[in-house]
Amino acid sequence: MENKLNAKNSGVPLTRRDFIKTTAAAAAYLASGNFAYGFAAAETIRVGLIGCGGRGTGAAKDCVESSASIEIVALGDVFADRVTQCKENLRKSIGDHFKATDDRCFVGFDAYKNVLASDIDLVILATPPGFRPIHLQAAIEAGKHVFMEKPVAVDPAGVRAVIASADLAKQKSLAIVAGTQRRHQLGYLEAMKRIHAGAIGDIVSAQVYWNQGGLWMHARQPGWTDMEWQLRNWLYFTWLSGDHIVEQHIHNIDVANWALQAHPVKAVGVGGRQVRVDPAYGHIFDHFALEFEYPNGARVLSMCRQIDGTATRVNEYLIGTKGTADPSSWIKAAKPWRLEVETPPNPYVQEHTDLIASIRKGQPLNEGRQVAESTLSAIMGREAAYTGQAITWEEILNADLDITPKNFSFGPMPVPPVAVPGVTKLSRTA
Ligand SMILES: NC(=O)c1ccc[n+]([C@@H]2O[C@H](COP(=O)([O-])OP(=O)(O)OC[C@H]3O[C@@H](n4cnc5c(N)ncnc54)[C@H](O)[C@@H]3O)[C@@H](O)[C@H]2O)c1
Repeated sequence: MENKLNAKNSGVPLTRRDFIKTTAAAAAYLASGNFAYGFAAAETIRVGLIGCGGRGTGAAKDCVESSASIEIVALGDVFADRVTQCKENLRKSIGDHFKATDDRCFVGFDAYKNVLASDIDLVILATPPGFRPIHLQAAIEAGKHVFMEKPVAVDPAGVRAVIASADLAKQKSLAIVAGTQRRHQLGYLEAMKRIHAGAIGDIVSAQVYWNQGGLWMHARQPGWTDMEWQLRNWLYFTWLSGDHIVEQHIHNIDVANWALQAHPVKAVGVGGRQVRVDPAYGHIFDHFALEFEYPNGARVLSMCRQIDGTATRVNEYLIGTKGTADPSSWIKAAKPWRLEVETPPNPYVQEHTDLIASIRKGQPLNEGRQVAESTLSAIMGREAAYTGQAITWEEILNADLDITPKNFSFGPMPVPPVAVPGVTKLSRTA
């Protein structure tokens, strides 16, 4: 069903909110300015969640906490146990805001279709990113506003689909906000404002890092098909996660793109699988080091690692002709600056505050293209390391690289080989 918050564009039967617009009594109400497409600012926004894991459950809570009159009304996940856990968690944590009755809790690969058909206004997409392009397209076609977790694709074919959906969302006045929460974090926002006004001059170089230890892994259980094993360990399969440079380091690469107000034009680099070599960890790399080149000639060193016992570093550092900055909190330049707010707003909540406010105002935010470009930047880095070649933006944007399965079912699912620089080709299907 078309989103009621945009029913004026849809041709679907009138809702109560549309009816208000058609009555004389509505005139005073409309004159109050307290509406979006004629809807009261306090009118309930009905939210569905697709992907009921850690972040999806967290995002549902954050959405409820962000704004008045939010209800979580439908859940969907490929696994029943994840829906059950999420339901129990949300019942406790958000109380009356949880309204997903059992007939609106769906399981399986088609659960997303049922959630979208559950009379919702907004959907949270929080599955592994391999499914995002498909789910986003379905959500926008169904006329839903979207909050979607990063990254938003794992291959160029997926990125192209996301850009097309973002363009369609714009035409349909639908909001898309992405889980690149630094874009809604006070320190970054204040620093970027100053940097873009010239506080550190022209950015000539930057370093961005996500170096840490290993993450969770679920040992294969008897009875699990290949597909179930891979889905439950999605981090370790490129078709599901994009590899950790895309899944995790995208946050820092996105900050570089934001600071430089551009996407990189070329990537060269190295990577490998040196420590996390057990097949239980699929086929992804455990470290990458890249150089991204930007249109103004700036070079960005990007480094990410998931190896236990190694030093942690997760941040960004910018070097300009007139100063330097950690864009989360400080600038060193002729006019220095430091964030001096003791408890800044939680960016995971703020991103929903901004999303909901934009919907209610009738000025929907659309971060679709921005996050698609940051996702593609990370994919470009991954492919430079996987193939051992310099990869340009045009090459990656147009690459015949589509690693997403054509059908999803619980059965055999061979694991692709670990990429080998000098051997692995950019054009491939696994
Ligand atoms: N913004 C952030 O800081 C942040 C933090 C953590 C995770 N994330 C992102 O959130 C997303 C989810 O990560 P997570 O940590 O919640 O993982 P998770 O494994 O806890 O949850 C993923 C859920 O999606 C379900 N799922 C898988 N395939 C599905 C499908 N086809 N249809 C419906 N459900 C499906 C899984 O069963 C699981 O319940 C990822 O894209 C991840 O990168 C973002």
